[in-house]
Amino acid sequence: ESIHAKMVAKGKLYFGTATDQNRFNTGSNAAIIKANFGQVSPENSMKWDQTETSRDKYNYAGADAFMKFATDNKQLVRGHTFVWHSQLPGWVSQINNKATLTTVVQNHITTMMTRWKGQIYGWDVMNEIFDESGGFRSSVFYNVLGQDFVRIAFEAARKADPAAKLYINDYNLDTASYAKTQGMVRNVKNWISQGIPIDGIGSQGHLTAGQAANAPAAMAALCAAAPECALTEVDIQNANGQDWGNIVKACLNQANCVGITVWGVRDTDSWRPSGNPLLFDSSYKPKSAYNQVLAAL
Ligand code: XIL
Repeated sequence: ESIHAKMVAKGKLYFGTATDQNRFNTGSNAAIIKANFGQVSPENSMKWDQTETSRDKYNYAGADAFMKFATDNKQLVRGHTFVWHSQLPGWVSQINNKATLTTVVQNHITTMMTRWKGQIYGWDVMNEIFDESGGFRSSVFYNVLGQDFVRIAFEAARKADPAAKLYINDYNLDTASYAKTQGMVRNVKNWISQGIPIDGIGSQGHLTAGQAANAPAAMAALCAAAPECALTEVDIQNANGQDWGNIVKACLNQANCVGITVWGVRDTDSWRPSGNPLLFDSSYKPKSAYNQVLAAL
């Protein structure tokens, strides 16, 4: 039984991974993804710099290839991502006018979500908007629009595809007592109480050895703040014998945690160059990390 099938047997929606055509068209990636994972996230192909390269000019080649792979293999999709300071084209970061930036954010979200309306389980509408103290990160969105960018983006997203789950996603949310985790919890509760349509909190889960020990308590705090939650980009550098089991537990323990996504298939292909952070080794063999996930499910 696959890790995905075992997750579903536990009442969850998926165990997934990140991919794109540069990966699933090479080596054993496609075979591994089909055999082990039930959800995919586009590692890069739906980011702003890849899709709306200049204003109102869209390039869907990578994203369409990704969606075809997901559809052919009947996999759930988490769309990733809209409002993010990184991998943002220069023409967006240069906007200094409120009305223009509002329209640009609304149009980008509406255009992207409409193209794949009904085909995406959920979208990371926000990515990495907090700083380490739990305040707002400096970005064109915050600097020009203030906190309003959150409402503007989520409202546009709800309107564009009412069935898609709308997520706010971030990293370093791995310890409940950490200021950034508490900032996420406090702000999301507040925004939901103001009627901003947020369905879920995503915790990326980019970890180092031993850190996953705190993940169950951190997820308890995050999952209590929104209708649903997920671990969205997990990788663990130099994972110890308990780390992967703790990650699985962090999701299983929360009734509203919908699933776990790992950020890639093979260590060799990880965006993190050291620490062998994924579940498969350079020859596409499942590692002990993989067996720890299986054992925890
Ligand atoms: C990473 C990709 O894996 C890399 O290929 C790319 O060069 C940079 O972005 N947080 C996120 C992801 O939300 O989109 C990032 O993905 C990793 C950190």
